[in-house]
Amino acid sequence: MKVAGRQYRTIWLEDDGWSVGIIDQTLLPHSFEVCRLTTVEDAARAIATMQVRGAPLIGATAAYGLCLALRADPSGSSLERAGQQLIATRPTAVNLRWAVAYMIEALRDPKVTSLGDGERVAAAYDLAAKLCDEDVAINQAIGTNGMRLIEMARSAKSDNAQPVQILTHCNAGWLATVDCGTALAPIYQAHDAGIAVHVWVDETRPRNQGFSLTAWELQQHGVPFTVITDNAGGLLMQRGAVDLCITGTDRTTAGGDVCNKIGTYLKALAAHDNGIPFYVALPSPTIDWTLHDGGAIPIEERDPGEVTHVSGRDEAGQLRRVALVSEGSPAANHAFDITPARLVTALVTERGVCAASREGLLGLFPERRDDV
Ligand code: MRU
Repeated sequence: MKVAGRQYRTIWLEDDGWSVGIIDQTLLPHSFEVCRLTTVEDAARAIATMQVRGAPLIGATAAYGLCLALRADPSGSSLERAGQQLIATRPTAVNLRWAVAYMIEALRDPKVTSLGDGERVAAAYDLAAKLCDEDVAINQAIGTNGMRLIEMARSAKSDNAQPVQILTHCNAGWLATVDCGTALAPIYQAHDAGIAVHVWVDETRPRNQGFSLTAWELQQHGVPFTVITDNAGGLLMQRGAVDLCITGTDRTTAGGDVCNKIGTYLKALAAHDNGIPFYVALPSPTIDWTLHDGGAIPIEERDPGEVTHVSGRDEAGQLRRVALVSEGSPAANHAFDITPARLVTALVTERGVCAASREGLLGLFPERRDDV
C-alpha cells in the first residue's frame, strides 16, 4: 500500500539483511512511524503490545521472530523456546500458532538441519519471506473473489449508480496483513475497478481499530467512508443504508464458526434480522481444522484499562489518555467473540466463496478431509 507516495508492506527485512522493519500501529492515525526488531523478544513485545496486530500480520511477525532467534543461536536449540514465547503473546488468532508450526516443521527437515549455521539461518529468512509473499497472494485472491460479491450487490440495487454500502468491523485491511488486507481487499479492488463503494467504519471499542486504522487506510487509498459508533450499524441496516457486511476473522473453525473482534456477533445478528448478507474474508491459515465448535476457541481477555480509558489527540495536538468511568469501576475486556456459522452468509477464501460449514470448507480444501 502507498503511504505518502511510498510503497509499504507492514513488515519487511531491513537493508542490513537481518533486522525486521514494522509500522508501529499503536501510533496511528496520529503519526506514521516505523521501528526495527532485532531480537525474538522485540518480536514478541511488538505482538503483545499490538504494535503489530491482525491475525495474518501476527503470524508473519512470529515467523521473522523465529529467524531472529535462530540468528542469535544458530544451533537451533532455542527454536522451540522462541516458538512458545511467541505463541504465548496472544491466544486467539490461530495464524500465530500456524506460522510457528510452519517455520519449525520446515526448519526441522533434515535437508535444513544438515546445513551449516549460516545457511540454516538464511533458510529461515527465506521461509519467512515466502510466508509473507504467500499472505499477499492469498489476500489478492480473496480480493478478486470478494469483489464479485460487491458486483452482485451493485447489480441488485435499484439505482446502481449509487455506491454499494458496505459495513465493516475492526481492521482487516492491509495493516492487519502483510499487504492488501482480507475484508478490505475486495473493497480496494472494487474501488480500483471503478465500482462506487462507500464503507461504514465501526469504531471498534475498546482499542478503536476501526477509527484509528481502517478509516486511516481507506483515507490513504481514497475510498469513501464514514466512521460510526459501534452501536449505529443496526439502525443503518434497518434504514436500508447497508448492502452488505464484510469482516475479517482471527480463527474460523472447520464447522464455519467465526471468531473475530468483539462486536462482530452483534453485527451479524443485526444483518440476519435485516436480511443483509454477512460475509467473512478467510485466508486458509486462519482455519482451525482441529475445532468444529467456536465455543472451544480461547478468547483473549485484555487489560481492563483499555475499556475504562481512551487515548487520543486533543485540540492542541497533544496525545492524552483520559478516564471514562469513575475510578475503581470494575471492567471486563473480552477482545473477541464468536459468530455462529448460521449467521454467516458465506466465507470468502483465496480458493473461492463457500458456505460457512464443514461441507463448504471441504469443498474448497478437499485435502483437509482427513483432518476434520
Ligand atoms: O486485536 P486485533 O487488532 O489483532 O484484532 C484484529 C481483528 O479482529 C481482525 O478482524 C482479524 O485479525 C482479521 S485481520 C485480517
